[in-house]
Amino acid sequence: MAEKETAQKSEKKVRGKKMAYQSVKGMHDTLPEDQPLWEKVRLATRHIGEFYNFLRIDTPILESADIFERGLGEGTDVVEKEMFVVKTKGGDKLVLRPEFTTAIMRAYYQHGLSQYGQPVKLYYEGPVFRYEQPQAGRFRQFHQIGFEILGAESDPIYDTQAILGAYRLIEELKLKGVTVHINSIGCHKCRAAYIKKLEAHYKKNAQKTCKECKIRIANNPLRVLDCKDEKCQLIKADAPIILDYLDTECKTHFKKVLEYLDEVKIPYHIDSYLVRGLDYYNRTVFEFFAEGFDYAIGGGGRYDYLSETLKLGKLSAVGSALGVERVIEVLKASGRPVAAKGASKVFLVHMGDEAKKRGLSLIEEFRKAGMRVNESFGKDSLKSQLRVADKDQAHLALILGQKEVFEESIIIRDMEIGTQENVPLTRIVEEVKKRLK
Ligand code: HAM
Repeated sequence: MAEKETAQKSEKKVRGKKMAYQSVKGMHDTLPEDQPLWEKVRLATRHIGEFYNFLRIDTPILESADIFERGLGEGTDVVEKEMFVVKTKGGDKLVLRPEFTTAIMRAYYQHGLSQYGQPVKLYYEGPVFRYEQPQAGRFRQFHQIGFEILGAESDPIYDTQAILGAYRLIEELKLKGVTVHINSIGCHKCRAAYIKKLEAHYKKNAQKTCKECKIRIANNPLRVLDCKDEKCQLIKADAPIILDYLDTECKTHFKKVLEYLDEVKIPYHIDSYLVRGLDYYNRTVFEFFAEGFDYAIGGGGRYDYLSETLKLGKLSAVGSALGVERVIEVLKASGRPVAAKGASKVFLVHMGDEAKKRGLSLIEEFRKAGMRVNESFGKDSLKSQLRVADKDQAHLALILGQKEVFEESIIIRDMEIGTQENVPLTRIVEEVKKRLK
């Protein structure tokens, strides 16, 4: 890692004080106000995953570097530039996972998941790490949700199911205007023929290609199709397209995927130059785009060769993954904010040590009744505690002073209208319940 940036010093001022430390570049805190949105995404993932019979899997954040170097491909940006490498004291080279798919393939073989009914359908959600230049929608720590189907024949129906899982999740979250961009990059055989034509086209235009693409065409030719440079875009405009080079089997496979997508009414757009940034794909590749956003909110494809590349065996597989931060960005832009789960509606105010002690067990009585009660035990004055109750937007404040503890009673204060009533402590839970109905 070239830059040294474990904790960036910043001159940023927070409430008049200089903030010495910031979170690491490209990595973000998820604050309480955003938690309901994240929770909504997690819940929807679980819901869709379980409905389509995907089983939950979690894999470690740290993996051996070599599985990604092999699996994703040495010439890919992720491997070449974006891995967070960790050297252990014992000299092992590990990485913070840059994606899940390769790790899941490892787990499939490590735990003999071929013993499960095939195909095994797995879903996951968690943080991934890529050392990229942060910008809108691009972070160094981000989160992915994914659906993987491993161990089936290369049947196009599973390609559709991998898309379906992610697409139905997008629908459940009510993201509008999402389309699937889809293409087929064929198998090793037909891709080789296409790459020759592509190389010839770019070599013919060598004078006009950018510096990076000159290297790409030599090392990893398909990558030239991802180049955003204006001159390279012009060259791409009349570059050959891979669909013209697919062999009969790959063509039939792609046609079937599209037919199945029609069957479940998923809108798609054939994007002849979509190739994706990871080497393990074959045949179907796809990405999800939301209207008004120029980055993909998700992507995936078939990866029948990954297991062989990792020297694990032969296994057909296909999957999809969504970027959670990007999904949440689109969700926020759609103007459907998820109401933050309100803080407790009940706030306990204590006055004096006896009341503080009794307050502790009183909260336990509410817990048994399944009701949340907030407090500010560290504060002593009535005024400052009521101020916190106000910030919390509590409906009721329960005021317990020395006198009330002695008399076994408590005051219920309606925070909106300001009325107060004294009730026996033994009846407080039911009195509160009655008022919150
Ligand atoms: P990917 O396209 O590299 O595919 O990542 C999937 C999604 O993760 C992207 O579409 C995007 O939403 C999000 N993402 C990627 N990089 C960043 C970043 N730096 N910041 C924020 N979000 C990001 C994969 O990772 C494959 N494993 C997908 C797959 C699953 N293929 C088969 N199965």
